[in-house]
Amino acid sequence: MSVCRFPRLVFALLFLLACITGCATGPTPGGLTPMSIARVESLIVRMTVEEKVGQLSLYAPAGIDIVANPQAARQSQEQQLADIRAGRVTGLFNNAGLEGKRRAQQAAVNESRLGIPLLFGADVIHGFRTVFPVPLAEAASWEPALAERTAHASAVEATADGFRWTFAPMVDIARDARWGRGVEGAGEDVYLGRQFAAARVRGFQGKDLGRADAMLATPKHFAGYGAAEGGLDYNTVDLSERTLREVYLPPFRSAIDAGALSIMSAFNEIGGIPSNANRNLLTGVLRGEWGFQGFVVSDYTADEELIAHGFAADGREAAKRAFLAGTDVSMQSGLYMQHLPGLVASGEVPMSRLDDAVRRVLRIKLRLGLFDQPFRGLEDAAGPRFDSSAHQALARDAAGRSIVMLRNDGDVLPLSKSGQRVALIGPFAGASDLFGPWMVFPGQASPAGIEEAIRNSLASPELLTVVRGSDVDAPIAGGIDAAVAAAREADVVVLSIGENEQMSGEARSRSDIEIPRAQQELADAVAATGKPVVVLLRNGRALALRGAVRNARAILVTWFLGSQTGPAIADVLFGDVNPSGRLPVSFPQTPGQVPYYYSHKRTGRPQLADAPATFYKARYLDASNDALFPFGHGLGYARVRYEGLELSSPGRMAWDGTLTVRARITNTGKREAEEVVQLYIGNRAASVTRPVRELKSFRKVRVPAGQTMAVEFTLSRADLMFIGQDLQPTVEPGNFDLWVGPSAVGGLKTSFRLAPE
Ligand code: NOJ
Repeated sequence: MSVCRFPRLVFALLFLLACITGCATGPTPGGLTPMSIARVESLIVRMTVEEKVGQLSLYAPAGIDIVANPQAARQSQEQQLADIRAGRVTGLFNNAGLEGKRRAQQAAVNESRLGIPLLFGADVIHGFRTVFPVPLAEAASWEPALAERTAHASAVEATADGFRWTFAPMVDIARDARWGRGVEGAGEDVYLGRQFAAARVRGFQGKDLGRADAMLATPKHFAGYGAAEGGLDYNTVDLSERTLREVYLPPFRSAIDAGALSIMSAFNEIGGIPSNANRNLLTGVLRGEWGFQGFVVSDYTADEELIAHGFAADGREAAKRAFLAGTDVSMQSGLYMQHLPGLVASGEVPMSRLDDAVRRVLRIKLRLGLFDQPFRGLEDAAGPRFDSSAHQALARDAAGRSIVMLRNDGDVLPLSKSGQRVALIGPFAGASDLFGPWMVFPGQASPAGIEEAIRNSLASPELLTVVRGSDVDAPIAGGIDAAVAAAREADVVVLSIGENEQMSGEARSRSDIEIPRAQQELADAVAATGKPVVVLLRNGRALALRGAVRNARAILVTWFLGSQTGPAIADVLFGDVNPSGRLPVSFPQTPGQVPYYYSHKRTGRPQLADAPATFYKARYLDASNDALFPFGHGLGYARVRYEGLELSSPGRMAWDGTLTVRARITNTGKREAEEVVQLYIGNRAASVTRPVRELKSFRKVRVPAGQTMAVEFTLSRADLMFIGQDLQPTVEPGNFDLWVGPSAVGGLKTSFRLAPE
């Protein structure tokens, strides 16, 4: 490679310089050795401005229109290869397949002047060949370690297809169920979101980014994208800086603390400043306050969209604003290549700024091992590069752990495998809509649907009747009659209804979060037979349930569970797996309540849950303020009792000390319980109003039948931190309520005072 042709003396000088700066500044940036720093510097001094801008220009593969990336095919393949040879491209994304990548890498490494390797990125959101549950579903497991494992497995599969960079995890907090992209994140809560953000980064990147199966992670979308007005994707965001800092930024901080070295700037504006060109965010917070060492990549054409936002008059201004604010790499628009060279020539963009951005990108390419082994992972492998049966087993486990049982009246579940005739009814009974919105790459094995899995579980296939009953959005002629007839013949109805894959994800906001009308009518008609109904919800968001769906004897939230959807659902339905998922989003009573989240403020006129409803309180005339199913809620097949809440120092947390919180969980059931024990606090009065409750910790524990387990948490002053009036993190002495319980509602309660020493 041409790097080796660089004169040794100059390299030695740069090496010396890197050693000196490295020693002077402590640990080397991004964990690089002085030798590698010198290697990057040796390139930068030789690069033309255009080659530098090339390292900041990322493209979709030419000639292919990719789902979710409109107008990807802006160039011909020949043009794109010519650009790569000219050093005008830093990488390509979502270009599945090894052959095309090999050819492109060949052009970059062997046919360009400096031989700088390309980086291949992809939206690996919840699996690649093996499809794992959508991230919202996985968050319902309340097991960050599980998400770490599935992220790692996804990285193993995607790197086998030559991708070393994932545009994940999405760590946007989503409190408005209308917003379609909530399906890609970990739900409404800051604490839960932080745990999953960090776990997914660890899973994708592993301990060593240089390993062949490690993928550079990209927490996105920085920032506030989930707070879109009206839940409408891409819409305006107007957030106080306090809420931004307290709710929307922390998961990004956790992802970066976990080692993420790239981050994606968001499409949305906040208070008039599009995030892609928000200097305070991209430079002030990210680099200044958090010391982020990686690079910022724009979302897809987000720099160009500054023009539509009305934030830039033309492409030149858009490129300048985005770049100077801190967006290092431009995705797909080509605006940097068109305008940055001119902006540097005119002095509007200092060369030093250009060099900084290029340095960040090159250092990460080096850490990924791309300079030394640019073709690693791109060769045609002789055999399989991963154990797909192990990944399928993981997918089944993950899917089972993501299912949330909202209700199980009269223990209608688990079903018997031999003693009941089952009518499986609804548009999701088969094997469609299992993957969720982000499976854009080919090559997945056909997944097992619910019908097949239930049939395989039953002692005899005659015990199952299947009727579609309705389409997702429209009735089927005679569908309801057939469904009702099947229900009458059965002992139990399993109703597989909800949303299809096209109803959540990017650009998939819904103004109504109810079950589509045709399916609701089906459910109501079937329930009118009086047969017990078990609802299997297929969904990418919290739904507002009504009628027969709301009143069903049992409700399982089954999201989009991926490759093993059917078997995982059957595992739970027939009791081979005890449902242990808990809601990562509140289910409201009605669609009109959204945005709805448990950690809301009190207001000056709170309608307290246990007080009679009166006028002049913060409440709707036609719905209570309670969730239908609160955040954190979920049932298992064994019942548990909470008792014995105690604090290590009753009523008091020492300013510099810790407070140990203990509770006893007793399994009163006949099988093992898997319980998510949740700890919430509420600050009664502070210099800034505080939410009614905030999740501060949780433990997922297994309690054998009939046994009692002590669960312990440790809190310290840092857990009581909030963003003060001066927008700085602060902790104030005061009185706090504390709950330990199975959801954000109720639970064992005590209180304590945080007193200054
Ligand atoms: C747009 C989406 O907002 C982003 O999440 C994704 O990574 C890019 N498209 C690339 O596909």
